[in-house]
Amino acid sequence: MSARETLEPVLTPERIRARVAELAAEIGRDHQGRELLLVGILKGAFIFLSDLARALPAPCRIDFVRLASYGASDQSSGRIELKSPCTFDPAGKTVLVVEDIVDTGLTLDWFLRWLKEQGAAAVKTCALVDKPERRQVPLFLDYVGFQIPRGFLVGYGLDYAERYRSLPGIYEVVFAQD
Ligand code: IMP
Repeated sequence: MSARETLEPVLTPERIRARVAELAAEIGRDHQGRELLLVGILKGAFIFLSDLARALPAPCRIDFVRLASYGASDQSSGRIELKSPCTFDPAGKTVLVVEDIVDTGLTLDWFLRWLKEQGAAAVKTCALVDKPERRQVPLFLDYVGFQIPRGFLVGYGLDYAERYRSLPGIYEVVFAQD
């Protein structure tokens, strides 16, 4: 039996663009010219962070981390570590973590703890998509683009087996058996 996948549109590029502009304006208002360190979680957040940073009316520095999660392929195990050495020092800084999707929450929960252990002065979170249905740890997200309860999403940086990241909109992957 082979699985065929089709993509169902969920968010158009226009909707994403408009929401990213709103988020950037809100973050700018909340920080009033104070410098932020934006940290994107690779790979999925690279497009969202690029658009958010360009729309942000506040000074910022930009960096990225790659985190490794061990366990089942479609879900974080909670056993997480930095995949490569960190190239920035969060100590004393206001850090805005930029994430593509928060699903179980295990990845972000681990990273927020890590940033605090490194001495970050304040840590805020911004997720393009909050998918709360499978949440395993309570997590407060400061800025959320869209709440989408379920489904496996691709596009705008999100992948399925490394495909579809470059699509300008967001789609749900629908698997059909034949
Ligand atoms: P969490 O630790 O379960 O919250 O995992 C979040 C990470 O899993 C995200 O940063 C994505 O890389 C990946 N992920 C979760 N849901 C999806 C999805 O619907 N599409 C693509 N990647 C996803």
